[in-house]
Amino acid sequence: MSLHIVILAAGRSTRMLSCKPKVMHFLAGKPMLARVIETALQLQPEAIHVVYNPDHQDIKQAFPQLPLNWVPQEQQLGTGHAVMQALPSLPLTSHVLILPGDVPLIQVSTLETLLKTSIFQSQPVLGLLLATLDNPNGLGRVLRDANNKIYAIIEDKDATLEQKNIKEIYTGICLAATKDLLRWLPALHKKNTQNEYYLTDIVQCAAQEHYFIGCSNPASLWEIKGVNNRLQLNQLEREWQILIARQLLLSGVSIADCNRFDVRGELRCAQDVFIDINSIFSGIVTIGAGTRIGPNCILNNVTIGENCEIFANSILDGCQIAHNCQIGPFARLRPNTILNTNCKIGNFVETKNATFATGCKANHLSYLGDVEIGKYVNIGAGTITCNYDGVNKFKTIIKEGAFIGSDTQLIAPVTIGEYATIGAGSTISKDAPPGKLTITERKQKIIVGWERPDKQEKL
Ligand code: UD1
Ligand code: CA
Repeated sequence: MSLHIVILAAGRSTRMLSCKPKVMHFLAGKPMLARVIETALQLQPEAIHVVYNPDHQDIKQAFPQLPLNWVPQEQQLGTGHAVMQALPSLPLTSHVLILPGDVPLIQVSTLETLLKTSIFQSQPVLGLLLATLDNPNGLGRVLRDANNKIYAIIEDKDATLEQKNIKEIYTGICLAATKDLLRWLPALHKKNTQNEYYLTDIVQCAAQEHYFIGCSNPASLWEIKGVNNRLQLNQLEREWQILIARQLLLSGVSIADCNRFDVRGELRCAQDVFIDINSIFSGIVTIGAGTRIGPNCILNNVTIGENCEIFANSILDGCQIAHNCQIGPFARLRPNTILNTNCKIGNFVETKNATFATGCKANHLSYLGDVEIGKYVNIGAGTITCNYDGVNKFKTIIKEGAFIGSDTQLIAPVTIGEYATIGAGSTISKDAPPGKLTITERKQKIIVGWERPDKQEKL
């Protein structure tokens, strides 16, 4: 069997009221279209064809690495017209699975079930993914005859009041043989309220030819929710977040409030992790047992060990944190920050490309960039690694047991020796020897005769 997948992504975004294509709006950190493409790839089809609006050429640039056949649809004349544009790319003997780009959470297992129920039959088939909803408003309704045989799908806007009471709906996902589409699609008309070529009208064609219409249902109803406007996108986003939160809760993670919880990538947690409100997780985030994430933290591509505490309002991006570390509140750990066990990074400390061996402390107000710090180093408040001369970047090395006094500037490249002490307020531009106190002197003076200025009258 040769399986081709056509993804419909050319719609006009009318109901989104957006200059951006609807399918490029984000759900849980990814464009909806990216989700559908990822799911399609997992079915290992021979090819994936994406029908797009050529006015939005940049949609193609969003997926540069993927083997996609981009099919332009010059005019958005409906879903039937959209699929027709892909026909020349489809081999005559292939089967084609049609996925709307605006049904982003469809799962591979549900599609596999549809394929099974509709492809491996001896007679010609059309496969439809259907569902029964309490509120079918806005969706195509399934019409069945007295023998319960499907004979048509009627769009909500064309349905009679009686038909609108039908709760069985079409999800927008179907499977057909290419050779059948070649016959059915050119026969479509646009005599309907929307003046569009409806793909759904092929159901009538199939019924008239006495085709077997195979149907299956999704495993869960959230999978088939479509997004036509920003309200639906917002509701689906929350539903998805709550699903992720529930899975974590049932795997031993505590979450303060599922309504204030956002995963925009992949979050892997061990047992007894606690996540307070309003944190955002993107990229791949891994959190070890017993670690607590305070409120309002942003974590992107971070690995955190066991029993750590990330206090409120901390931002961690591209970091590795070992066990028993404490970070924040208000810390900013930038890419390639590596903390070994038992480190403390306090408020208003920024780090970048910085390695801390076990037991280091930088508790207040520092910038530590391009730096390698040995065990048990104490960095005083206001310490700054001056790593950049305006053109090039240089490295600072601080060896085991060093003590950096407050308000120190370390002008890289520079090395602070083992157990060296740097006096507060120093500007260190040459290597400091191990075990010694190094200071740069700024003598305290008393200015005789100085007086505070008087407050002047405003002009
Ligand atoms: C469609 C179905 C409806 C079904 C619903 C499920 C039709 C006629 N109706 O309605 O029965 O219940 O999905 O969510 O198929 N698109 C194009 N080119 C076009 C028009 C649309 O590529 O000319 C794309 C859109 O970008 C979208 C998808 O096709 O991704 C579906 O189009 P949309 O207008 O959202 O159809 P619905 O009204 O939701
Ligand atoms: Ca839709």
